[in-house]
Amino acid sequence: MDWEPLIAAARAARSHSYSPYSGFPVGAAILMEDGSIWAAANVENCIPTLAICAERNAMSAAASAGLRHPQAVVVITSTDPPASPCGLCRQTLSEFADDLPILLVSADGPDSAREEVRLIDLLPRRFRLEPAPQGRT
Ligand code: THU
Repeated sequence: MDWEPLIAAARAARSHSYSPYSGFPVGAAILMEDGSIWAAANVENCIPTLAICAERNAMSAAASAGLRHPQAVVVITSTDPPASPCGLCRQTLSEFADDLPILLVSADGPDSAREEVRLIDLLPRRFRLEPAPQGRT
């Protein structure tokens, strides 16, 4: 697995984070089944519940382009050890993949700390609901 293109994309997206309320910029990049990379940052709002995480923004962009099968994810934050996806983002990713390698990267750490985790370990026994047959897209 060559993580470097995903790391570069997540890092670039993080530089566009809109996070004036938390001061916590996040960048995420997802490799999809066709080899394309979809990256996004977190986007906040003065109504806190409207903030959307980087991972969900990236996954929504890929799904909106018709892609359904994420292969790998990179998340970049400033913390060391690097932050792990929130519960909402874990559930969102698990809608499209039973398991995924996720590389957590510390943007500013002296050695740019990295940790590889798996979605199945972050969200075991996730909530599932089979799509209605007539609703499959
Ligand atoms: N955030 C993400 O973008 N991804 C996560 O997995 C956790 C948190 C964002 C949401 C908010 O803009 C900021 O980080 C602080 O919670």
